Amino acid sequence: MAQRVKKDKELYARYKKGRTTYSTYCAACHQPNGKGKSMMAPQLAQSDWVNGPSDILIKVVVHGLTGPIEVNGKPLVGIPPVMPPHAFLDDQQMADVLTYVRTAWNNPAAPITAEDVKSVREANPDRAAMWTQSELRP
Ligand code: HEC
Repeated sequence: MAQRVKKDKELYARYKKGRTTYSTYCAACHQPNGKGKSMMAPQLAQSDWVNGPSDILIKVVVHGLTGPIEVNGKPLVGIPPVMPPHAFLDDQQMADVLTYVRTAWNNPAAPITAEDVKSVREANPDRAAMWTQSELRP
């Protein structure tokens, strides 16, 4: 685990909660080591989606993502083009699991707060469809 997580008590507590949520809802597809799996799901470790703008990451996990995507500039091959929505996670659970994936596996990104999640939900109140890459990264 990254030094920055260990030395920040509050961040470490959120990391641990996020890790539990990750094991329950994400690890079967993205794998406990965040490296993904062929025919299953792409990597979250060192992914430009995970470490990129927080609002895009929140949208992907709340509403889902479908269609062909690129991770770190490379089109995914042999992975089904559907990331299911997880809108049932509350703002704090979502913030903690996203903080976990942004700080685990040497990912370098900043934590995400429950307020960040809330404001993305409030800005997209009628969103039912999964996002596509071209909407999120025009
Ligand atoms: C049923 C399997 C499945 C589950 C469960 C799942 N994902 Fe995904 N996820 C995928 C697939 C498949 C894609 C690629 C979608 C595409 O190509 O359009 C993806 C894409 C992503 C991406 C963008 C691409 C990348 O590699 O960074 C992120 C971020 C992500 N998922 C995070 C999560 C998180 C966090 C959870 C748990 C809350 C989760 N996923 C649960 C299958 C899954």
